[in-house]
Amino acid sequence: MALYSEKVMDHFTNPRNVGKLDDADGIGEVGNAKCGDIMKIYIKVEGDIISDVKFNTFGCGSAIASSSMATEMIKGKPISEALELTNKAVAEALDGLPAHKLHCSVLAEEAIRAAIKDYYDKRGIAYDKAQFPDPHEEEEHVEED
Ligand code: FES
Repeated sequence: MALYSEKVMDHFTNPRNVGKLDDADGIGEVGNAKCGDIMKIYIKVEGDIISDVKFNTFGCGSAIASSSMATEMIKGKPISEALELTNKAVAEALDGLPAHKLHCSVLAEEAIRAAIKDYYDKRGIAYDKAQFPDPHEEEEHVEED
């Protein structure tokens, strides 16, 4: 079996929603200290809906495919739904990622949450801090061989 699914290859070679939003309502930037990859997600919010989303990912193919898929999954959706998006759901939507690449999809989940938190902060919207744990405190520990 190929290491990467067709969906991963498709979203890597033809990523959706690449770029930046100059008038973004929220921007989330996260990185993985181990591999040095960085992901930035921009969201535009209308009412309670994420009306537009773009990303810039300086990272591996799995991180780019995860960003592409994750942005597709939250576009046009309520913020509450975007907050529930897990890296597992992103990886499943991509028909799976190799185990040692699962942490790449974690970046997408974290970047979306960071963008929503930024939106709340900028608008002065109150939120439950427990919804936005510091990603570094729960950083995924990938076993080294
Ligand atoms: Fe860094 Fe994939 S190896 S995010």
